Amino acid sequence: MPFYDDLKVMFSAEQIQARIRELGAQITADYAGQDLVVISVLKGSFLFCSDLIRAIELPLSVDFLGVSSYGGRTETTGVVRITSDLSKPIDGKQVLVVEDIVDTGLTMDFLLRNLATRRPAGIKICSLLEKPSRAVKQVTIDYKGFVIPDAFVVGYGLDYDERYRNVPFIGIMSKK
Ligand code: IMP
Ligand code: MG
Repeated sequence: MPFYDDLKVMFSAEQIQARIRELGAQITADYAGQDLVVISVLKGSFLFCSDLIRAIELPLSVDFLGVSSYGGRTETTGVVRITSDLSKPIDGKQVLVVEDIVDTGLTMDFLLRNLATRRPAGIKICSLLEKPSRAVKQVTIDYKGFVIPDAFVVGYGLDYDERYRNVPFIGIMSKK
């Protein structure tokens, strides 16, 4: 049995890819003719971002922002730390922030305020998942993959205690 046989599938690899094609087409249309910088928020969004940029048919550049939120294994405290900063300035650029999931919204709220001080021309958010039932900070997600109920999900980049990121689908842990 695979190492992830304790997971129940929420979104299959095929469902994820189909949704990414739709998001990519929408982003391609919205940013036509513009110079786009895609920021992958590490670590959770690295798989999503790698598939998403291949669905965006525009010239673009990619950068990475490492963040870590202090807290337990399944909860965030809202205290966010930048563990690895962008490699280049973003002033005057159209920025698309790519996240794995917006849960309480605390991480994204922090990131938006931090990135805004760097004077980009515009900032939009693309998140694969949103858990609106747990929102503490209201964050407008411009491009969202799926809205999910209040469950802890792993796979396709998302982890539980750094495990399960390499699971090809998004699943719920049944026993923990
Ligand atoms: P926030 O609560 O919106 O600040 O989310 C902070 C971070 O917690 C997200 O970027 C994820 O990395 C992580 N996270 C939130 N919910 C889940 C989940 O269900 N599975 C795995 N990681 C999660
Ligand atoms: Mg994350």
